[in-house]
Amino acid sequence: MSEILKVRNVTKSFGGLTAVHDLSFDIRSGETVGLIGPNGAGKTTLINVLCGSLYADRGEIEMGGKIIGRMPPHKRCHLGLSRTYQIPRPFPELTALMSVVTGALCGKNRINRGLDDAGAEATHYLEFVGLFSKRNILARDLTFFELRMLELARALATSPKLLFVDEVMAGLNPAEATKAVHLIARAKEQFGLTIFWIEHVMAVLMEAAERIIAIQFGEKIAEGTPEEISNNDRVIEAYLGSGWKKGTCH
Ligand SMILES: Nc1ncnc2c1ncn2[C@@H]1O[C@H](COP(=O)(O)OP(=O)(O)OP(=O)(O)O)[C@@H](O)[C@H]1O
Ligand SMILES: [Mg+2]
Repeated sequence: MSEILKVRNVTKSFGGLTAVHDLSFDIRSGETVGLIGPNGAGKTTLINVLCGSLYADRGEIEMGGKIIGRMPPHKRCHLGLSRTYQIPRPFPELTALMSVVTGALCGKNRINRGLDDAGAEATHYLEFVGLFSKRNILARDLTFFELRMLELARALATSPKLLFVDEVMAGLNPAEATKAVHLIARAKEQFGLTIFWIEHVMAVLMEAAERIIAIQFGEKIAEGTPEEISNNDRVIEAYLGSGWKKGTCH
């Protein structure tokens, strides 16, 4: 497998607080890589830096052989990078359909795509996430679960190669969370995605990820297979807790 993303010595500070410190890792094409760490460890900041909504203070990011560390987010999206947000960020005044159309019109395959094509594409992704019947509802009138699904559809409509998922289960009830996790697994299969997945529910990453990176105070403390990570003393001490038993939910 070849690397789709190379992250080298990336550091991001907010004033005196170093949220991401000297992080280096690779993501290989076709992988699902999990990112874990305590609250405030720097996980979302890392995704913000990788997607371009924040620029790193130091370090470099390379995607498909291109240096992208100073590239604005929309250009990274054109290269095939997309994301969902920990707290959904809808366009409240757009319908579900038009929200997803924005993804189709801004993504990797946007060139030569008219509004009709984008509408057809968006409809396909709304069906995929189970929101077809809500297509004409304004985003501001959707439930929290529906907003999560809408974000996934909008991200998929950009035709990403690499999808960043920031805590898709947060705020969902168990049945909804299960649906969301299954959809991401299906999306990976169906659309040939590579996934970088922040999740606090360790059992989900044990199942879905080939590799997990654990961070604390912005620094990598471990990287390995789910098996290795779940048995890593430093990860248990920093994050999983001594009561952690393999296969249980965190
Ligand atoms: N825009 C910002 N300005 C100042 N500080 C910030 C900003 N964004 C994040 N931080 C701080 O950086 C640190 C890392 O935050 P981040 O949101 O990346 O953590 P996280 O690992 O995603 O946590 P959680 O699991 O709670 O989502 C925290 O101390 C946070 O308060
Ligand atoms: Mg976060």
